[in-house]
Amino acid sequence: DWTSDVFIDITVAELKKTIGSDRVVMGLSGGVDSSVAATLIHRAIGEQLTCVFVDNGLLRKNEFEEVLDSYKDMGLNVIGVNARKQFYEALRGISDPEGKRKAIGRAFIEIFDEEAHKIQEVKWLGQGTIYPDVIESVSVNGPSATIKSHHNVGGLPDFMKLKVVEPLKTLFKDGVREVGRALDIPETIIGRHPFPGPGLGIRILGDVTPEKVQTLQEVDHIFIQGLKDAGLYDQVWQAGAILLPIQSVGVMGDERTYERVIALRAVSSIDGMTADWIHLPYDFLGKVSNDIINKVKGVNRVVYDISSKPPATIEWE
Ligand code: XMP
Repeated sequence: DWTSDVFIDITVAELKKTIGSDRVVMGLSGGVDSSVAATLIHRAIGEQLTCVFVDNGLLRKNEFEEVLDSYKDMGLNVIGVNARKQFYEALRGISDPEGKRKAIGRAFIEIFDEEAHKIQEVKWLGQGTIYPDVIESVSVNGPSATIKSHHNVGGLPDFMKLKVVEPLKTLFKDGVREVGRALDIPETIIGRHPFPGPGLGIRILGDVTPEKVQTLQEVDHIFIQGLKDAGLYDQVWQAGAILLPIQSVGVMGDERTYERVIALRAVSSIDGMTADWIHLPYDFLGKVSNDIINKVKGVNRVVYDISSKPPATIEWE
């Protein structure tokens, strides 16, 4: 694609000039944005880039291992850090959505900073910030009410004293995907739905425990795999499951059950600023619901979210 190729040439040349012989550290999330940004930086400066991929214990099922393998195949120099325990510890007893975001953001910065300090003479922090992140951050920090503290923008602790390099700052998601394809990044990463930095932490309403995470990972896996198997995954901009902080009465055989309720959410969108709920086929929803209730222990009810943004948001927290 002509436009992507030009963007890549210009960006790589600029990165070379800006960074020179300095070292860069960058956190990868498994998402499209950070993967494309890292690949561009890697193209420009090769082994001067070190990437850090943190398992915060709030990723999708098997995500950490699978994505780490893809990164290695792509030739990126990636350090994988299993920090699940630290995150669960930091989240213990916190139910407030912003409180959880802050705890997750703080834990991430602490762990990332520790890794960054292991790299000699690092001067730059690479980031996968895209244009909509810039816009949302402006409104977050503006005089109007706080919307959300997206930790991937402006969350840089002063003491790290790193300069920031953000090669995707002018692009929307579609542009990022086009550039990613032109860079030969695997389709499993390019076509991936957006996923929030705080991960399943903000899809477990109320406090987060390892058991709840495991339950939600199983549910989410059935839903996402179901979308892929039905050929629906690529028609959806973002999908996921939410673990609700309520229990409902059900019946199994002669027994009454009192178990968890799951909400499923699937939306279409261009940039996440507005979104419409997707009319997934009833047969598909019925099958996924049955699979979830039959296979995931402790869940006896599934509901489907039919709200659009605005006034709802994509995430529930
Ligand atoms: P909302 O829920 O605000 O989400 O409609 C819009 C898009 O942003 C993602 N999102 C986040 N991403 N940190 C992130 O990195 C966050 O705290 C966060 N909150 C929401 C959300 O998944 C959707 O794609």
